[in-house]
Amino acid sequence: TDIRIGAELIRRRKGGIPLVCLTAYTYPVARLLDPHVDLLLVGDSVAMVLHGHETTLGASLEMMIAHGQAVMRGSARACVVVDMPAGSYEESAEQAVASALRIVDETGCQGVKLEGGVDMAGQIAAIVAAGIPVMGHIGLLPQSVERDGGYRIKGRTDETVAALMADARAVEEAGAFCVVIEGTVEAVAADITRSIAIPTIGIGASGDCDGQILVIDDMVGLTVDRVPKFVKEYADLRRVIANAAERYAADVRDRTFPAAAHVFSNSKASSSKDVG
Ligand code: KIV
Ligand code: NA
Repeated sequence: TDIRIGAELIRRRKGGIPLVCLTAYTYPVARLLDPHVDLLLVGDSVAMVLHGHETTLGASLEMMIAHGQAVMRGSARACVVVDMPAGSYEESAEQAVASALRIVDETGCQGVKLEGGVDMAGQIAAIVAAGIPVMGHIGLLPQSVERDGGYRIKGRTDETVAALMADARAVEEAGAFCVVIEGTVEAVAADITRSIAIPTIGIGASGDCDGQILVIDDMVGLTVDRVPKFVKEYADLRRVIANAAERYAADVRDRTFPAAAHVFSNSKASSSKDVG
C-alpha cells in the first residue's frame, strides 16, 4: 500500500498539474476510476445518488463507513477521503475526533472531509491534531440546505465574498490539506485559490482552482433527477442502461434469452469452465 497517494502528496500539488478528483461509492466504480484520478471522495452525496434521499442529510456514519470500505477494497492508488455526515461533528471537537477516528479505523481511508469554515475550525484542528488529514469544504454547503432555504450560489454579495475568504483562511490555518470550493462565483473561487497555500478543489467554482471534482453519477450521465449546471456529462449511462433493459426484456419475452451459450449441458468436457 506504499504506492497509495497520501494527503501530504495532495497538499504539495498546490499550483501544479490540476488534481483530478471524483466521488466513488462502490467497489466496481472505485476499481474503474482508481487508475485515472488523484483522489476519490466517498461523498455524503451517496445518500442522494445511490440511496434516493432528498438531501445529504440522509447520510449516516454507518452508511459512510460501509461505502468507504467498498471504495477502499476497489482502490490501490488514489487518495481516498470519506465525508463526515451531518450530525457527526458539528457539536464539538470531541464529537468530531471520535467520528473521524471511527471512519479511519473502520475503512483505512487517507482522510476525512467536513463542511464549514470559521465555525468548524476547532473541529478541523482537533481532527488534524489526532493525526487524521482533513479536507475542508466551503462555499455552497449541501448539509446546510435546509438552513439556507435551498442551494444558493455563494459570493454574489460583498458580505459573502468576505465570509468566503475568511472561511478559506480558517480552514487553511486549522491545518486542512486541501479544500473543496462548491457553488461559488468564478472570480471569487479564483481569488481564494491565489490567496491560500493549500490546493483548492472546485465544483461549480473556477477553472483556476488547483483541482476539480464531480459526482461520478453526474459525470457519466447516470443521474436520473436534476443535473446541475456545473456538470459536464462524459457519457450517457441512462441511455445505455435503459437500452440494455429494453433489449433484455424483449429477449426474455420472446425466449431469445437464454440461448445455448447461457445454459448448462450434462457433458463433463465443459464442466471446468461452466461458471465464469
Ligand atoms: O458529497 C459530495 O459528493 C461532495 C462533493 C461534491 C464535493 O461533497
Ligand atoms: Na459531501
